[in-house]
Amino acid sequence: MRRTVLVTGANRGIGLAFAGQLLARGDHVIATCRHPGKAAALNALGGEHPGRLHVLPLDVASEKSRAELIRELPLVLGEDGRLDLLINNAGVLHSGERFGQLRQETLEDSLRINAIGPLLLAQAVAPLLRDGNRAAGGNEGVAGTGATGAVINQANHVECKRDSVCVDRLPGGARAADITSSGGARGAIKSLPDTRLVDCAPSAAAASGCPVIANLSSQLGSIAGVTRFGAPSYAISKAAQNMASAQLAQALAARGIVVLSLHPGWVQTDMGGEKAPDAPADVVAGMLRLIDAATPAQSGGFFDWRGEALPW
Ligand SMILES: NC(=O)c1ccc[n+]([C@@H]2O[C@H](COP(=O)([O-])OP(=O)(O)OC[C@H]3O[C@@H](n4cnc5c(N)ncnc54)[C@H](OP(=O)(O)O)[C@@H]3O)[C@@H](O)[C@H]2O)c1
Repeated sequence: MRRTVLVTGANRGIGLAFAGQLLARGDHVIATCRHPGKAAALNALGGEHPGRLHVLPLDVASEKSRAELIRELPLVLGEDGRLDLLINNAGVLHSGERFGQLRQETLEDSLRINAIGPLLLAQAVAPLLRDGNRAAGGNEGVAGTGATGAVINQANHVECKRDSVCVDRLPGGARAADITSSGGARGAIKSLPDTRLVDCAPSAAAASGCPVIANLSSQLGSIAGVTRFGAPSYAISKAAQNMASAQLAQALAARGIVVLSLHPGWVQTDMGGEKAPDAPADVVAGMLRLIDAATPAQSGGFFDWRGEALPW
């Protein structure tokens, strides 16, 4: 089934790879960037996939620009006027920061682009996102009030209790993991021994998967992973984005919309540099596998592009 996808920062790097792969598989892509007139590689994709790519201007950090996009979106959405997937990809990394010379402007810019912009864009786009149908298919449970949620799948006898997120084996060889928490704060990660699935995909929407908001995060935003002083504006803004994703997951749980925080690895882009080990095409293919298979039980989770659950 053809999906309608909105991608930010789609003129280069990982965003461009998302646009290319989504178009190649037949999806309808609304690709945004700050300067559409200069987005040669992105605009070229439009010629290869006639009628399925719309390029619209968006500076994610600008309230005015976000409002203009929301006004334009209904004009380019498909017949049902709905989006299936929002990929908050646009991001910035200010390099060369040193302790003793941190600047308010750099910190604020990073927060605006990496955390505040994606959250407010998701809020503005939410009314246009398709609802997931969580009640169908023999599932019950799925909360979303305060705790992360609960899903009980009778067919597979998988039970993920309140205050936990069950993450099952994902496509691409990822392992199964169970993130548990106490007192509402997420904590230890432990592997599960098998690959039982939490079947929360609704029968009606199974062909197209759950509606998803995918926020491109970074391992550098993991507070648990801090071992040195480095790229503080970026790390702080991605940590803030992670909290925004967890909050969004709660806000949208009742509608069956899944929110994922995704670390794409260290990727060969302008941001990642030439020495990065991962190619944009590979990590984007991996993230699309995760997004396609995403379930409400995973909403609010933090994963790398292979599906490994990451510590906060
Ligand atoms: N590459 C990595 O190793 C890596 C690792 C972890 C996470 N990530 C995350 O993955 C995402 C994509 O990274 P990338 O490697 O593709 O980076 P990139 O090559 O530097 O591209 C960044 C993209 O974000 C856009 N952007 C920046 N500020 C924007 C704004 N205010 N409004 C709209 N668009 C804006 C850029 O547009 P312009 O061309 O107009 O500047 C560009 O399209 C980012 O969120 C990044 O933090 C990347």
